[in-house]
Order: sequence, then C-alpha cells, then structure tokens
Amino acid sequence: MKIIELDEVGSTNEYCKTIDSGEDLCVFAKHQTAGKGTKGRSFISLNGGLYVSVMRHYDNLSAENAFKIMVNGCVAVCKTLENFGISPVIRWANDVLVEGKKICGTLIENTFSNGKIIRSIVGIGINVNNEISSEIKHIATSMKKVLGKSLNLQEVKTTFVSYLNCDFSIEDYKRYINWFGQSVTLKTEGEERVVTAINITENGRLLVDWCGNMLEISSAEVSLRL
Ligand code: BTN
Repeated sequence: MKIIELDEVGSTNEYCKTIDSGEDLCVFAKHQTAGKGTKGRSFISLNGGLYVSVMRHYDNLSAENAFKIMVNGCVAVCKTLENFGISPVIRWANDVLVEGKKICGTLIENTFSNGKIIRSIVGIGINVNNEISSEIKHIATSMKKVLGKSLNLQEVKTTFVSYLNCDFSIEDYKRYINWFGQSVTLKTEGEERVVTAINITENGRLLVDWCGNMLEISSAEVSLRL
C-alpha cells in the first residue's frame, strides 16, 4: 500500500477523497487544521499525535463487512498501544480508552454502491505526544501521559503500519472489552438508559439487558458511557 506523509492537511480523510485515483493509500499528517470526528464533531489534531487515514477499494464486499473494517482499525490501534506497554480498552464501537480516558478516535467513511462497500476510509487519530487541550483533559489522555515520557512518533507509526494488513477477528476485538456483565449508560439525544452490557453481535450491534429485555443496539443510534 502506498504511504503518503504530509506536514499539514485539513483532514486526512478528506485528502484521501480528493486525490482518490482508485489506488489504496495510507495518508499520515503531522497535524490537521480541520480534523473530523464522529457525529459531525471536530477532532483537535495538534502536532505530536498520529493522524492517519487508510483508504481501500473493494470489488464485491457486502455491506455487512462494515463492522469488520472497524474491527481491523480498532485492533490495529490496540496492538500498537500494547507494543509500547499500554493496556487499552475498546469502548464500543470505535473509541480506544486507557485508564478510562480516550486515547484514540476512529472515523470510518464507507462508500456504497448497489448494497456493496466499494471504498472505505478508516481515519484514526492517536494521542501520542500531543498536548491535550484543557477543555477535554478530563476525558482524553495520550501515550505520553500514560507512560510519563515522550515517544518516538516514527516508531509508533511503523508499528501501526505493521498491523495494517492483518485480518483481525471479532474475538480479537472483544478481547479489549472488559465491561461485559457491567452496567453501562446508553445515551441518545433525548435520554439516557442504564443497561447491562451482554455481548457484541457478529455485525457489530451491542447486545444489552434492559430491565429483563434483550435489546440489540446499533452504534448509529447511541453513544456508550462506561
Ligand atoms: C472521533 O473520536 O470522533 C473520531 C476521530 C477521528 C480522527 C481521525 S484523525 C485522522 C482522520 N482524519 C480526520 O479528519 N479524522 C480522522
């Protein structure tokens, strides 16, 4: 896969879309001026973090594989963190936490045609040595904070790239979940519901017990609080 390294870009995900010529790409940027988060939010992307988008094209990939694409991205991040002695937890669907705080966010943008995924852009932002801005300090952390020392960003990148072509399973993903059987909060725009987390289905839905009723929740509908 071709690797492109940029000093500055608006958003690596948007950059991939702009230059897409059908080739699979991995685009890194030192910082982003208009980093995008999920649910239309922005993603602060200061120097010292790892900001990457992996763009892949598919001929005949059914839409059910969308969760598998996310699994591969999240597990690659978790393996990278473990290589540096950090123990991550996945907060379904696609956040990676360390010591209860977010260390990495993932924004996946898939393009569909006739019910098939024809292109995926997996955008990943890992807080490595970057400062965490004061307004998110209570919910975000970095590899530097967790380890108490700066890391060699190039080494973190190389480690991440080494996991890019791995095909991880949903079992691999679930190994980073330590909150099954626990009470968690599901947040939608209007309400919060406390439920017991039970499992994650093959297509990436969260199975919960809500007052004795088994519900299957889609990540598009809710955010999860651990
Ligand atoms: C989130 O936590 O809301 C998702 C954040 C995703 C950030 C990454 S950084 C690289 C890629 N480019 C973007 O603009 N966003 C993703």
